[in-house]
Amino acid sequence: MQRQGLGWFEERLGWSGFREKFLDKAFPMHPSFFLGEIALFSFVILVITGIYLLFSYEPSAQIITVGGRSFPAAYHSVTQIDKQPFGLIVRQVHHWAAHLMIAVVILHLLRVFFTGAFKKPREINWVIGILLLLITVMAGFTGYLLPYDAFSVTASGIGYQIAASIPWIGVALAKFVFAGQFPAIGTIPRFFGYHVVIIPLLLIGLIGLHLLVMIKQKHTEPSSSRGRVAPGRLLGIPLWPQQTSLMVMLFLLMTGGLLLIASIFPVHPIELYGPPGPQTPTVKPDWYFLWVFGLLKLIPGWLEIHLGGTVLDPEVIGGILLPSLLILLIFLVPFLNRTRERQNYLEPVTKHPLRTSIGTGVLMLLLTLSAAAYQEVLDISLAIFRLAAVLLPLLVGIATYLAIRLFRGWRSKTIKRAREPLSSDR
Ligand code: HEM
Repeated sequence: MQRQGLGWFEERLGWSGFREKFLDKAFPMHPSFFLGEIALFSFVILVITGIYLLFSYEPSAQIITVGGRSFPAAYHSVTQIDKQPFGLIVRQVHHWAAHLMIAVVILHLLRVFFTGAFKKPREINWVIGILLLLITVMAGFTGYLLPYDAFSVTASGIGYQIAASIPWIGVALAKFVFAGQFPAIGTIPRFFGYHVVIIPLLLIGLIGLHLLVMIKQKHTEPSSSRGRVAPGRLLGIPLWPQQTSLMVMLFLLMTGGLLLIASIFPVHPIELYGPPGPQTPTVKPDWYFLWVFGLLKLIPGWLEIHLGGTVLDPEVIGGILLPSLLILLIFLVPFLNRTRERQNYLEPVTKHPLRTSIGTGVLMLLLTLSAAAYQEVLDISLAIFRLAAVLLPLLVGIATYLAIRLFRGWRSKTIKRAREPLSSDR
C-alpha cells in the first residue's frame, strides 16, 4: 500500500531523484555543526512567537487615554499583551530567542573562523553569513524600540544621534531611517515595517541562499573522516530520517529550554520604566552593542579627523568609522587568507597560530571595550581602560601564539619519540 502511494508520487514528481538529491544528503557529525542549526531554529521560534505578538501589538505612538491616564498606543498594547493568559511568556520567549540567535550566530561565525571553514570554496557563504549577522543585529535594534517605553525611546535616540552625526548625509539618512526627527510620530510604524516585514524577508532569503550554497559546496568534515570515503563523497548520516530526527529533537529541546528560561528570568520590565517622559533613564545597550558604547567612551573628546572640508567628531569616529572598519576587515577575512586548494576538512586551531591569535586578540579587544561601557560602575579610570584596550588584546594574541608554538613543539617531540624504535629493536 505504502509502495503504491510512493509510486504514485514517483510517477508524478520523480520522487526518487529528489530523495537521492536532498533526503539522502550526508551530514557530517560534529557537535559544532549544530550551532548553525540552533541559529536557524531560533529564527523559526522568533517568527512563531512574533506572529502571536502581532495579533495584539499596536504599531503607533499616538497618545491614547485609558482610565484617565495617557500612554502611547504601542506602549499600552504591550502592557495588555503581558496581561493575556500566554502573553507575557510568549513575549519573554521572543526576547530570549532573540538573544540566543545573536549569541549563536556569533559562536557559529567563530567556529567557521577558527576552523578555517571560510576558505575556498566557501568565501561566498562567509560574506552571506556576515550579512546575516548584521541583519540579525538590526532585527534586535528595531525590535528594541517597539514597546516604546522610556528606556527603549532613550536607547533608540542614541542610535539616531550616532546616525545623524555622519558627515554630509547623516541628518537626511537618520531622518529617512527614523521617519523624521526622532522621536517622530512615524518612527514606530516604520520600525514595525522593518522588524516584521523587511528584516524577516531578508533573513529568509539569505538563510535560504546560505543553505543552498552549503548543500552545493558540501560541508567541511571533521579530519577524522579523512581517507575513509571515496574522494568527493561525505562521511555522515543521511538527512532523512537520522539527521531530521536529531533536528526535531534539537528544536523541541530549544523550545523547552527557552520556555524554562522565560518563566524564570523576566525580560525588559516596561511598566517599571513607564511611558517616555521628560526624564530620561540611564541606558545601556544590549550586550552585543556594548563594545560600540565602550568605544564611544574611550575616544577622547578632543579627537577630530578633518576630511574633505568636513570634521569627523568623536561620535562618528567611535560610533561609525571604527566599527565599520572592523566589519569591513571581517568581511575580507577569506580574501586576506587566500588558498589555492579546496578546504574540505576542519582545521585544528593549532594549525594556523597567527590566525588563531588574531582571533583571540580581537575577541579580547571586544571584551575590553564592552567592559569599558561599565567604566563608572567598575570605578576604573578611562585612562586605564584606554591602556587596557591596547595592551590586553596584544598580550592575549601573543600568549595564544606562544602557547600554540609550545604545544606544537611538544607534540612533534612526543610523536618523534613514539616513533623511535625501542632499544630492544636495535
Ligand atoms: C542567521 C544566521 C545564520 C544561520 C541561520 C546559519 C545557518 C547555517 C547552517 C545550518 C549551516 C550548516 C551547519 C553548520 O556548519 O553549522 C551553516 C554553515 C555555514 N555558515 Fe552559517 N548561518 C548563519 C550565519 C553565518 C555567519 C555569521 C557566518 C560567517 C560569517 C556563516 C558562515 C557559514 C559557513 C562558511 C558555513 C559552511 C561551514 C562548513 O562547511 O563547515 N554563517 N550555516
